[in-house]
Amino acid sequence: MCGIVAYIGPKDATPFLLEGLARLEYRGYDSAGVAVAGRTGGLKLRKVKGRVADLAAAVPARFKGGTGIGHTRWATHGVPSDANAHPHLDNAERIAVVHNGIIENADELRAKLTADGAVFRSETDTEVLSHLIAAHAAGGVELEDAVRAALGRVVGTYGIAVLDAEQPDRIVVARNGSPIVLGIGEKEMFAASDVSALVRYTRQVVHLEDGELATVRADGFRTFTADARTTHRQPSTVDWEIDSFDTGGYEHYLLKEIHEQPGSVERTLSGRLDERFSTAHLGGLNLDARELREIRRVKILGCGSAYYAGEMGAQLIEELARIPAHSEPASEFRYRNPVIEADTLYVAVSQSGETYDTLAAVQEIKRKGGRVLGVVNTVGSAIARECDGGIYLHAGPEVSVASTKAFTSTVVAFALLALHFGRIHDLSPADGRRIVAALQALPDQIREVLDQSEAIAKLAAEYADSTGMMFIGRVRGYPVAREGAQKLKEISYVHAEAYPASELKHGPLALISPELPTVALVPDDELLDKNLTTLGEIKARSGRVIAVAHRRPEDRLVDHCILVPKSEPELDPLLLNIPLQLLAYHAAVALGRDVDKPRNLAKSVTVE
Ligand code: AGP
Repeated sequence: MCGIVAYIGPKDATPFLLEGLARLEYRGYDSAGVAVAGRTGGLKLRKVKGRVADLAAAVPARFKGGTGIGHTRWATHGVPSDANAHPHLDNAERIAVVHNGIIENADELRAKLTADGAVFRSETDTEVLSHLIAAHAAGGVELEDAVRAALGRVVGTYGIAVLDAEQPDRIVVARNGSPIVLGIGEKEMFAASDVSALVRYTRQVVHLEDGELATVRADGFRTFTADARTTHRQPSTVDWEIDSFDTGGYEHYLLKEIHEQPGSVERTLSGRLDERFSTAHLGGLNLDARELREIRRVKILGCGSAYYAGEMGAQLIEELARIPAHSEPASEFRYRNPVIEADTLYVAVSQSGETYDTLAAVQEIKRKGGRVLGVVNTVGSAIARECDGGIYLHAGPEVSVASTKAFTSTVVAFALLALHFGRIHDLSPADGRRIVAALQALPDQIREVLDQSEAIAKLAAEYADSTGMMFIGRVRGYPVAREGAQKLKEISYVHAEAYPASELKHGPLALISPELPTVALVPDDELLDKNLTTLGEIKARSGRVIAVAHRRPEDRLVDHCILVPKSEPELDPLLLNIPLQLLAYHAAVALGRDVDKPRNLAKSVTVE
């Protein structure tokens, strides 16, 4: 959570810092700030409660310096306010720090520093770092040594960038559980918490490892460990396109990302389908057929939408490979002392690859000797690096807080995994061919759904002022209902509840009234009759029904119907989900919500 940027070079740092922060704003957006080491000495600082645009408006023209750091915040310690915004300074205003993560022993350190004379101006845990580093920097100590010494007293997670008014020819950055990436320019250097802030300036990057620090100067960098041992890091090249970080003519990133899905699904599938053997090739699994045959169970872990995508993945694995599979929130799994079995394959799902709960679950499994694969979008991310192997989504950067294209690509990746597993077990070549053909057809079928965007917008406007919405589906349709409800509540703030259609009569039917419309997933599969019966029960209680179906149910059963193209039954959930993304998007627009940056949320949850 939160975004960090830093610049050192011959140019004025401020324009880069502000632009970089705007690109990172999806990570947190309740306050923002910048600090530069002025050419005439001393630090200049501006920070405000609000968006990066508010910060840019507050930065005066004379706010210049060749070395600077910036931050956009998602509050954990202390309310969003000017005082709590980063950067934080020490009392002498010599050291400025921006920080992502949580300092767990902040209270204890604050008490000691206060006893030594430090005066705290914020409620944040971060401010202890500026006082602590300043205390260690006194007497001409090199900044990197002061930062190392200070971090040696800290318990917690951090990605930090530190600026020193007395050593403005360098910035020191450090990583422990919260990403920091260096960007290498021409006689200038950048650092950020996320490559999206850097791609306009350089494609050459170095991802710091946990426990690593770097001293960054205009002409290069040196990486080292907490005990001052130099490390040697080779830069890698970022292949994401700059226009992936623009709205590309769409009103919002979310709409753009929904419309990118035919292309992102093509990329997830690219080079992985094998028509000859009716299977999928997944080079990154690092598991051969013999090892895969020994797997007796699959446990999928993720948070939020990643968890729901995992539920669809579990369904696919059970259906195609006939291996018991189950998805669980990583945020719960990690706290319940889970039993780790040698013949279970654990799969961690994450768009960002940074979600702390998912990362902690992976670390717990590995500590107990389990084997973990990652299904991850962000190449080189913490979760991707922690796993034993995995599948990259190649969905491209997802900027909007609500996940859409990464969700769809995750399910496609699970379909590939299930196909691969299935063909090693008992899935017949004919069934394999059926799934391969259906996967190949998906991009065009998604386009067909997207063509209905305008009609769905009208429907969304009609229903947007409902007090709430019920989402129902059976078996394969239930995770679709859960993800549909998640999308609606997250961006429109309309209360939404998902239920298995089979469970309605065991309680929630009491809620049904004209004020609580139901979105029902009604695929044309072996459960169609059961689903139609449920629709009858809702209509008998004066409920309003929007069906998402392959063919329109009788008029007496539905008020509206969104038709989607038929795939193979196992893959139908993928297509049934797309209209729900559009429904949530258009409802949020109709209600005037901040679609890409919904209240209280941030894109990556890198804290507990
Ligand atoms: C999705 O719309 C949500 N913003 C959220 O549930 C998200 O999927 C979750 O926080 C997990 O993120 P990750 O995929 O980056 O790990």
